[in-house]
Amino acid sequence: MRLLDFRSDTVTRPSPEMRAAMASAEVADDVLERDPTMDRLERRVAELLGKEAGLWVPTGCMANAVALMTHLERGDRFLTPALAHVMGQELGTPAWLAGGMPEVLTWEGGPGKITPLQVAKNAINSGLYYAMRTTLLCLENTHNFAGGTCMNAQEHRALVETAQTKGLKVHLDGARLWHAAAATGASLADLAWGADTVSVCLSKGLGAPMGSVLCGSKALLEKAKRARKMLGGGVRQGGVVAAAGLVALDYLPHIPEDHAKAQRLAAGLRGIGFKVAEPETNILLVPVVDIPLSMQLMEDAGVRVLPVGSALRFITHRDLKASDIDEALLRIQPLFAQMLTTWEGNRPMV
Ligand SMILES: Cc1ncc(COP(=O)(O)O)c(C=O)c1O
Repeated sequence: MRLLDFRSDTVTRPSPEMRAAMASAEVADDVLERDPTMDRLERRVAELLGKEAGLWVPTGCMANAVALMTHLERGDRFLTPALAHVMGQELGTPAWLAGGMPEVLTWEGGPGKITPLQVAKNAINSGLYYAMRTTLLCLENTHNFAGGTCMNAQEHRALVETAQTKGLKVHLDGARLWHAAAATGASLADLAWGADTVSVCLSKGLGAPMGSVLCGSKALLEKAKRARKMLGGGVRQGGVVAAAGLVALDYLPHIPEDHAKAQRLAAGLRGIGFKVAEPETNILLVPVVDIPLSMQLMEDAGVRVLPVGSALRFITHRDLKASDIDEALLRIQPLFAQMLTTWEGNRPMV
């Protein structure tokens, strides 16, 4: 039985064009000088995001770590939405490596979303030398663990403006900013507006085997480049993987197809009896009562997913065809009776 892999949009394999581009990439030692292909990729992504410069890093986690190391001083407080990737999924690096003290804000603006009022209320800086200072707002768009929900350009701008008024810097974890742009119709630059740093992932949904780009001002990225080196992230002939990243960008116009697959999956699951919210992007959370049992049933049926809180997480991507969605639904239908579902509010409890 062919495995249908919905665990993440990171499971995609490099396309033949990507492999060809990697094989023929023009390269140089990017620690000693500039790798020309890396240079092209960084410039291209920075341009897309409306920023001055870009810095390639191997992973999204390293992009966030480098950004936080660049912005925070030891003991600084930063604000971030509940269940942000930077909080629960990066092994405490904001504290361990960047010395930051997180303040988690609940989703008062809807699933995955915080409000400007929350930012204003929590941006506490008394100026007293013995009081903790809040210096950074760390956003995530789309919000992975909320089910791929996205902020539109106005929501993003309102949060950034509030942060700026309060003297906070802003880092945006835009691992799937591509998806937010496709879903809201906003440009990547509008969704990155005002953020001091923005990270995007070429390996999520776009098909590159690795690579993220951290964008911001040249001055900030000079600092970030040192942090990257400290983490062992300065690579030599990086053009080999940067070439894959350049080809990956060609997939941007196809992102809506992956959103349509998620909607098709949601509609099919609802038809079977599952209670699922309409996906905003390519992530779908399906609440179930018994996660281990449900995971086992799915695995036995050759449909691979990951658990997120009390839900099964499906992510659609370029290596799954529309016919794979229908096949998955056929396989899941007989399992429904055994997979007791639950529904609390309009989103799974996570
Ligand atoms: C929102 C978000 N940020 C960061 C990351 C980390 O990316 P990586 O796995 O490349 O380190 C992920 C991974 O899924 C993510 O979803």
